[in-house]
Amino acid sequence: MSDILSEIRDGVKVITLNRPDKKNALTLAMYDGLAQALRAGDADPAVRAMVLTGAGGSFTSGNDLKDFLNNAPRGDDRPSLRFLKAISEAEKPLLAAVRGPAVGVGSTMLLHCDLVYAAPSARFNFTFTNLALVPEAASTMLLPRLVGHQKAAELFLLAEAFDAAAAKEIGMVNAVLPEDEVLDFTMAQAAKLARKAPNALKFTKRLMKHHTGDVPGQIAAETTLFEQQLKSAEAREAMTAFFEKRAPKFS
Ligand code: COA
Repeated sequence: MSDILSEIRDGVKVITLNRPDKKNALTLAMYDGLAQALRAGDADPAVRAMVLTGAGGSFTSGNDLKDFLNNAPRGDDRPSLRFLKAISEAEKPLLAAVRGPAVGVGSTMLLHCDLVYAAPSARFNFTFTNLALVPEAASTMLLPRLVGHQKAAELFLLAEAFDAAAAKEIGMVNAVLPEDEVLDFTMAQAAKLARKAPNALKFTKRLMKHHTGDVPGQIAAETTLFEQQLKSAEAREAMTAFFEKRAPKFS
């Protein structure tokens, strides 16, 4: 059985890390599988949202440490970088359901997700300095932006594990759900997104992620997409449905 499982359920692509005996530690082949699954989901019109999760009560214990020792990463086109490019460029809503360890890249990849739900068993750790490494996945930019310099310094430099409640407090996690509900809840949130106007979601995500930080520039970018959407079939359907007192249907 593959170490990366994918299935599409009602417009939601569920991507499961499936190497439970190693706490879903990521091998080169798994990074490749993840990159392919994310790219394929983004390109498939039948997919409207994607969910990342892990099998066997773990999210992921991060990069496989044997791979780090035996296959030192080399080259710009290596699987881990292909994965990071795919997750950081994903245009569709990306959700994560986290149980158990989310270590190293298991924590940094969450900074690229739009909605993150965690169970009480979740244990996050930006562990890089414990291995004499530095953080990756643009986390040295994204985490300080999320939590401020001092908190990010605590998480990166001390690199201690923290739980779901702490992750929620700093805004890395949207909500903490009971162990046996976290995946179903994440799927239900994804299903809600899958029923919404796909381009409206895609452009909203793009506007939030890709900005230069200047207000006039952002207003101009929003105006372009707002006017484009106003003329779109999906906006017509949304507004017609309002007047016809029915739920909109987007294909
Ligand atoms: N790479 C390779 N193997 C790993 C691994 C990793 N990142 N994380 C766990 N494993 C393996 C263990 O070696 C063990 O294998 P074994 O059964 O053959 O001995 C198995 O997975 C179970 O791990 P174990 O440590 O016994 O589980 P635990 O519940 O006590 O602890 C963790 C879970 C995730 C806290 C702990 O395994 C850990 O700290 N892993 C390393 C995390 C890490 O540093 N990742 C790199 C980030 S850059």
